[in-house]
Amino acid sequence: MEPLAPRTRLAAADIVIESHLDGAEGRSLAEDVLDGLTRPFKELPPKHFYDARGAQLFDQICELPEYYPTRCERAILSERAEELAELTGAVELVELGSGTAAKTRVLLDALSAAGTLERYVPVDVTESMVRECAESLTSEYPGLRVHGVIGDFERHLEHVPPADGPRIVAFLGGTIGNFPPGSRRRFLREISRLLGPEDHLLMGTDLVKDPRVLEAAYDDSQGVTAEFNRNVLVVLNRELQADFDPEDFDHVALFDTEHEWIEMRLRARREVSAVVRGLDLPVHFDEGEELRTEISAKFTPERVEGDLAAAGLELVDWLPDPEGLFAMTLSRRSPR
Ligand code: AVJ
Repeated sequence: MEPLAPRTRLAAADIVIESHLDGAEGRSLAEDVLDGLTRPFKELPPKHFYDARGAQLFDQICELPEYYPTRCERAILSERAEELAELTGAVELVELGSGTAAKTRVLLDALSAAGTLERYVPVDVTESMVRECAESLTSEYPGLRVHGVIGDFERHLEHVPPADGPRIVAFLGGTIGNFPPGSRRRFLREISRLLGPEDHLLMGTDLVKDPRVLEAAYDDSQGVTAEFNRNVLVVLNRELQADFDPEDFDHVALFDTEHEWIEMRLRARREVSAVVRGLDLPVHFDEGEELRTEISAKFTPERVEGDLAAAGLELVDWLPDPEGLFAMTLSRRSPR
């Protein structure tokens, strides 16, 4: 047997953190801006919302009376976590886009009560959040090991360490809705490659409903979502030395009934001539011209099942909230 390590080493031995950030993140913003702002219909991917301020605004969105997804998902987890722990027998939880791991504790509690919990694997681009949650979770759950992967879940899934037993891969919040249909299926297929025969995917999806309810959730009365949306211009100003005045743009959120997704846009209140100095790129908006900043797809049970099936996954359990606004799904690799 090995001699007992000193306390500090013992604590540190419970935490492994690997960073896969290599400067490609800065490049990706530059490429997305160059590509997205020179198109006939201007567009930026939603991942650039989340600098420190954006992450804080998103946390505020989750507390808004109009924004039901977070509350619904938490309610489902609280209601069904025990059953999920029993069904999966998971020894570890991998969480894609773990953030502050706020809802994760409900699952960790259930796995810990079931006596199976060994390891938590958060995957997130924000280094400070991965480190802070590793520290707090190892002290909250004695014996828990945390293997943090700092990286982009769209590019770094291969760095998720191999499992030591059955695991749950969690992709919460309805973030899968940010992918347009084709890339959504491609991404689900990448997730399914992470799954062994004993593993499960636990995913949150927002459901199709009355457009008024949806639009209110993305255009709240306090204007928090509007500020979150405009924050992407603040990110461009800081990171790429652009000179946008966020107040030149109106926040727009509308439900596209054909595609069944919410679109967020920034609409120029007047003609805008800006320069992204870091890219030496002039950008012109006509009055009323829009920049699409996010799509957030809404699902029917059939669509979720179809997307899972296209990725080689089969539904094990459909877990809606009591009001039927949001659903979680448990799925596994389908035998072939
Ligand atoms: C984090 C992608 C799930 O689409 O509902 C919230 C982001 N955008 N309000 C969502 C968001 C505007 C959110 N996701």
